[in-house]
Parts: sequence; structure tokens; C-alpha cells
Amino acid sequence: MGLTWKQRAFTALLGTAAVSGLTALLLILVGTINVLLPPDTKFGIVFDAGSSHTSLFVYQWPANKENDTGMVSQALACQAEGSGISSYASNPARVGESLQGCLEEALALIPKAKHHETPMFLGATAGMRLLSRKNRSQAEDVFAAVRQALGQSPVDFRGAELLTGQDEGAFGWITINYVLGLLVKYSFSGEWIRPLEETLVGALDMGGASTQITFVPGGPILDKTTQATFRLYGADHTVYTHSYLCFGRDQALSRLLAELVQAFSSFYYTFHFLNLTSKPSLSEANATIWEFCLLPWKLVEGSAPPDQDPWLRDYCASGLYFLTLLVEGYGFSEETWGGIEFRQQAGGTDISWTLGYMLNLTNLIPAEVPAPRRAQSFGVWTAGVVFLVLTLAATLGAVGVQLFWIQD
Ligand SMILES: *[C@@H]1O[C@H](CO)[C@@H](O)[C@H](O)[C@H]1NC(C)=O
Ligand SMILES: *[C@@H]1O[C@H](CO)[C@@H](O)[C@H](O)[C@H]1NC(C)=O
Ligand SMILES: *[C@@H]1O[C@H](CO)[C@@H](O)[C@H](O)[C@H]1NC(C)=O
Ligand SMILES: *[C@@H]1O[C@H](CO)[C@@H](O)[C@H](O)[C@H]1NC(C)=O
Repeated sequence: MGLTWKQRAFTALLGTAAVSGLTALLLILVGTINVLLPPDTKFGIVFDAGSSHTSLFVYQWPANKENDTGMVSQALACQAEGSGISSYASNPARVGESLQGCLEEALALIPKAKHHETPMFLGATAGMRLLSRKNRSQAEDVFAAVRQALGQSPVDFRGAELLTGQDEGAFGWITINYVLGLLVKYSFSGEWIRPLEETLVGALDMGGASTQITFVPGGPILDKTTQATFRLYGADHTVYTHSYLCFGRDQALSRLLAELVQAFSSFYYTFHFLNLTSKPSLSEANATIWEFCLLPWKLVEGSAPPDQDPWLRDYCASGLYFLTLLVEGYGFSEETWGGIEFRQQAGGTDISWTLGYMLNLTNLIPAEVPAPRRAQSFGVWTAGVVFLVLTLAATLGAVGVQLFWIQD
């Protein structure tokens, strides 16, 4: 006697289940590849509302989260018309206008389809810190006007707020270490590696109305108010950060020189002008600054016409001020001075707190080290699902045959 119908059906169904189950398994094991998701670009906008002027930065990064490190780049830097937002204290209604030009430039750069998903922030620093101390309600009015103006734009406006000096220092520290690739790196062997903590750099920032110093201290921090702690890529970082309000260049110079209208900031410009950006020694820097200061004005004017460089008359004062701040204030000596580098940019990105701020708010710097991911192409995935369904159906069929087929 041959097999019964029941036996044949059972065998066939079981065979089908086995074959399709194996196929699905093979597809999962072999058909899975390491992928780079299509490089869909994302954008973010940050306004840096400083004491002397407001700048806008547009950042862009590939949407694939897993290798975003070091991938955020600056797509646009724009300087808003007029002076800082704190100067609109008596006329807050006009502050929105001053930001429109840059905002329009940013919106023209970012594809329309991405506008609604582009986060935008405004962070205000020392100028507004001063105003808010002087007259809180005026500062609130300025912020309200800013929020009203920016809230009408088609992007995802996340707010305008006052940053503490500590935040400013901490975000600046994150920016420089991120841009230099010192927080985490994607190694050639395809692994995420964390560079040694000793390679992290400190940050000194000279703003218009405040100065910040931030670094990983050698010992414990006694004054906890100067401590900032964050978790980046699975590592805890504790930095010392301190901001000195009113010791920014403008404030100090205003005391020296009756009036001074600046639109530029940072150590960089002064040291750049004096040709001191390529790691000069302390004595070299000191000698160069003094030499410049002792030059007769006619000679200075002759070398660089003041109509081309409106800050010409300030380089001597700001150079001496920086030197004094670094040596007398922060206690740099000939030995420790060697490690200072004066930078405005790194890797095409302006070094300011704005990038660190955006990285933090958009969670682009995860608290944990990102894990590599595995993925399947859509075709393979579909086939896998079909085979899995087939396996299930055949198995159920076989069970059904065994239990319910009453025959013979
Ligand atoms: C991502 O990482 C891979 C592997 O290191 C590299 O080849 C690729 O250029 C990176 N691309 C992006 C968009 O990050
Ligand atoms: C703050 O500014 C408002 C509006 O300009 C004014 O009415 C008020 O008197 C000021 N307050 C102080 C404490 O100066
Ligand atoms: C800088 O140079 C001046 C004049 O040569 C000198 O008096 C001063 O002590 C020097 N300062 C430093 C920190 O080297
Ligand atoms: C980063 O952002 C979070 C909110 O998302 C905030 O709680 C945290 O304090 C920020 N980090 C720093 C260093 O300010």
C-alpha cells in the first residue's frame, strides 16, 4: 500500500515549511548587510545674540545618525544688521526686523521641504545678561519681540533664551572638542573609539562683554558652582567653567577709551592682525604687541589705512589687554603659554558656543556610544517576510492535517 492522502499532504506541507523556513533564515543571515542610509541632509539654525551684534549660523549634517560624528558642518554664517539685540531695549518692536535679513538667507539655503523640520534657536549672551540685570522687564520685552518675530518663520522655532556664562563656556568647549574630533571618532576598522581624555583641549573665549574659560581640571573642583558635568558618547566629562562678565574686551576698552563701537570679537582678530596666530611664545607675543604699540601712529596708518581697517586704533589696547588677562588673570607663564592656539575656525566651522548648543539640543551628541547597525534591502526583507508567512502557513497546515483530517 502507498502513502495515504493524509500522509502525503502532511509530508508535503512539512517539507514546504522546512524549505521556506530555511530560506527565510538564509535571507536573514546572508541578505543582511552593513548599510549607510541615504545621505539625507538635515539642517539647524542658531542665532548667537551677542553684546555687539547677532550672528546666524546654519548647520547641516547627514541624517544617518550612526556616523554623524564630526559630520556636522557649517553651511552658512551671517551677520545680522545693526547692533546686538540688547540695544533694542528702548525699542523692542524693531528687533525682529534686524534679524530678518539673515533669516531669509538661511531659508533660501535650506530646501523648502525641510523648513518645517529645521530646528531654530536663539541664545543670548553677555549683552542681554547685562540688560537683564539692569532692567529685567526690558530684557523680557526684547525676548518677547524676538520670539514673536522668529515664531512666524516656517521653521521649527524652539525658543529664544538667555544663556548663562557657564553654558556659554561649556558649549564652546563642546564645540571645539567636537570639531577637532576629540570626543569620539569612527575608526578605520569601523569601530567607535574614544580618544584619551588627555587630548581634550580647554577653551578660552573672549566675547564682547564677557570672557569664558573652560577646561578639564587636573584635580577636584572645590567650588561646585564652577563645575559642569555632561555625558557625551558614553563618557562623563567634568569641566571647570567660569565666565567673567564685564571683562569682555568691549567693556574693558570702554573704560580705557571713552567710546568704542565694535562689531567683532575674540582674541583671534587682534592676534591675527599682529601675525601672532601661529603659536608664538609668550615673549614673542609680548615683544610684538609692545613693538606695535610703540610705533608712531603715522607709520601704523601708512601700513594699513584706517578706512580699510576700522579697528586699527584698537589693536594695541586689545593686544595689551589680552596679554594682561592671560598672564595676570589666568596665570599663563612662558611654559604653559606654548599650548595656546588662537583660532577663529576649525575645519571650516566657526568656533563658538552655537554648535555645541545645537548638538546638545538636538541630541546629536548621544549620551551613549552609537552602535553599528545591520539592515536589509527592501527586496530581501519582503522575501523574508513572504517565506516566514509561508513557513507558518505550511506548519499550521501540517498540524491541521494531522489533527483534523479524518479519513481512512
Ligand atoms: C560614514 O562612515 C563611513 C565608514 O567610516 C565612511 O566611509 C563614510 O564616508 C562616512 N559617511 C558619512 C556620511 O558619514
Ligand atoms: C525698566 O524699563 C521700563 C520700560 O522701559 C521702565 O518703565 C522702568 O522704569 C524700568 N525699570 C527700572 C528699574 O529701571
Ligand atoms: C613684556 O615686555 C615689556 C616691555 O619689553 C616688559 O616690561 C614686560 O615685563 C614684558 N611682560 C612679559 C609678561 O613678558
Ligand atoms: C543639554 O540639553 C539638556 C536638555 O535637552 C539640558 O538638560 C542640559 O543641561 C544641556 N547640557 C548642557 C551642558 O547644558
